[in-house]
Formats: sequence, structure tokens, C-alpha cells
Amino acid sequence: MKGRHISHLDTPSLLLDKRVMKQNLQNIVQFAEANHVAYRPHIKTHKSIDIAKMQLESGAVGITVATVGEAEVMVSGGVENILIAFPIFTAEKLERIYQLLDRAEIILTIDSEEQVDVVNEFFRQKDERVYVWLKVNSGLNRCGVEVEDVKALVERMTDKNYVELTGIYTHAGHSYAASSTEALEEIAEKEAEVVLASAHICESLGVQVAHKSIGSTPTFKIAGQVDGITEIRPGNAIFYDMVQVGLGVATIEDCAVTVASRVASIKRNRIVIDAGSKTLSLDKGAHGNESIAGHGYIKEYPELIISRLSEEHGVIDCNPEDYPQLAIGDVLTIVPNHACTVVNLFDQYVVHEDGSIIEAWDVSARGRLK
Ligand SMILES: Cc1ncc(COP(=O)(O)O)c(C=O)c1O
Repeated sequence: MKGRHISHLDTPSLLLDKRVMKQNLQNIVQFAEANHVAYRPHIKTHKSIDIAKMQLESGAVGITVATVGEAEVMVSGGVENILIAFPIFTAEKLERIYQLLDRAEIILTIDSEEQVDVVNEFFRQKDERVYVWLKVNSGLNRCGVEVEDVKALVERMTDKNYVELTGIYTHAGHSYAASSTEALEEIAEKEAEVVLASAHICESLGVQVAHKSIGSTPTFKIAGQVDGITEIRPGNAIFYDMVQVGLGVATIEDCAVTVASRVASIKRNRIVIDAGSKTLSLDKGAHGNESIAGHGYIKEYPELIISRLSEEHGVIDCNPEDYPQLAIGDVLTIVPNHACTVVNLFDQYVVHEDGSIIEAWDVSARGRLK
């Protein structure tokens, strides 16, 4: 495969343009350095040990994951500092985390008083202290406590001997529904404000939290500039996708991941490709984003819309007579709407530079939902 051109690949394939990804990574790292904030990428976007290592080698202080399974895979790849950005509460999962602690610093998310008791009791039985970060809600209304509830939760923690609160974080995912730059700025400023207000409450209770962390791809360059914020956690910004292009935070040229697909059938009023919902996903953008038309952007024919997907078929409703040059077997490269969900559907990235294949990387943590 090495040295071949991507146009000769079997399809559908997940393509990763290494140069574009490296440029995206460098942009994040430069932003972090210029604003004196740490970079803790969310790896649910790429789920790749190879890419996590590149992020760490470029200066990331650790990574963020969403599941214990992702943490296990990343620790097996040598990652030594991980925030699990989900409130874990079952003994089974806490035991799996405990098994990782001799190889990595694992930070747990705290989201409720009940969970504080469960986590503290688990680690009391192990006679080991665990680092925890408090998740606060900045408007996404998912997990995360309100600022007015921070005091009670911190008091519950200071009462305990086996949980050590060292950070506050939030994720302004509702930024994906922002309809203007002003709306985005307002959401990002609130994101930082909620973290700083919560940290202030901790300090008034005598708890110094070293880490004040924000992060979503649409907001990190705004919230990350606010005085007092110490860390950014962008995930998608390593790849970008059509949702980010729709939001105006990236261009098509910034999108590092594409799907290579082939024309499989040409009928009177449609062209059918070999990429359906099991390849492109039906995801048109999370949290109320409405910027998307169709199921991905065809780089060679931007005006063509992939209007329908079934599992293995993508249907472009059009008049094929307008495209006499298109034939069965032709390769189309598609920028996905949401790169994170598309990556999770593939086993491997075909890594290329300017269309020439250089290597294959595993999507190491794909499907690790537990
Ligand atoms: C807690 C947390 N941090 C960071 C991120 C990264 O967000 P994005 O992919 O928008 O950069 C996410 C995304 O879901 C998240 O849930």
C-alpha cells in the first residue's frame, strides 16, 4: 500500500492527510504557548495511539477521554496522564481505573454528591487517594453542576479522605448551535466565567484548584484567552470537519480526514456511491447545529449533494448527464460532517501526504464505549 496513490485504494477508506493534521496540531500548540495554557486534547476524535503520542510530543500535558475503555487503550500505548471526562460511578469501572493507576495518573470527573460517596468509598477500601476534577455546567445542560451547587459538592469532598480535588472543568458543547460570531463569543466567555467562579468558591473554602480547564473546538480560542484559565481541551480541532466549516471556525482546506468512496451505479436521476451510513454516519452535527446540507462534502464536485444514505449506499440526486466525465469506479473524496463519529466506524486510517500513501494507523480505541 505504501507509495501508492489514494486513487488506487479499495473503498470505502478513511484517509488522513498528515500534513494538514500536523498543521492543525501546530496551530493549537502555538495558541496554547502564546496564551500560557496547557493543552489536554480530547482523543475521542481520533481514538489513535499514534496521534495521541504526536500530541504529547508536541507539548500536550496529558489527554482527555470519554470512557474507561479509551483510557485503557491509551495507557497500553504509554499515555501517562488522563482525564476521564465522564462521571464514573460503578465499582466495575472504578476497579478497571484502579488497575491503571500504577502506569498512569488518572483523573476522575465528579458530578454529584452521591458519586463523591461512591468514589471515596471505593478508594477508601483500596487505601489510595485519587485525583478528581469537578465538572460544572456552562450551558450545555448535560453533566456538570451549576455554580450555585459547587459549594455543597466541594464541602462533601473536603469531608472525605480519598478524593483530592485538583481541577474544575466545563465543556461548552452548545457552542455547536451558535448562529453568529457574537453568540459564539458569548458562550465562550460564559464557559471561562463559570470555571473561574467555581474555582473562586473552592478557594474560599480553602481548596486550591490548580487546573481551570475549558474546551470545545468552536470556543477554545476565545475562552482560552481569558485570564485565569489554565488549560484547553479541544478534540475535533486536530481534524476539523464540515460542522466546523459551517460554524466558520475552519475551512475545507483545514479538514484532515476524508472518506474515499467510489461511484457504484449511475441511473437516470442519481449517482450512487459505496459510502452509506455505516461509513459517513447519519450525524449532521451535534447539539443543535443546523449548518449542514447533505451527508458530507464531495471535494471533486462541491455542488453535488449526498442527499440520502442507506447503510452501504450513498445517493446523490442529480442529472448524471450534467457529469458525462463521471464513470462507475471513479473515486470521490468526501469531507465528513462529523469526523469523530466517522473515524469510529473504521479500523484504520490510510495516512497520506498529497495523495501518496505513507502508512496505516489503527483507530486503536474504536468502539471502546464501556
Ligand atoms: C468534556 C469534553 N472536553 C472536550 C471536548 C472536545 O470538544 P470538541 O471536539 O468540540 O473540541 C468534549 C467533546 O465532547 C468534551 O465532552
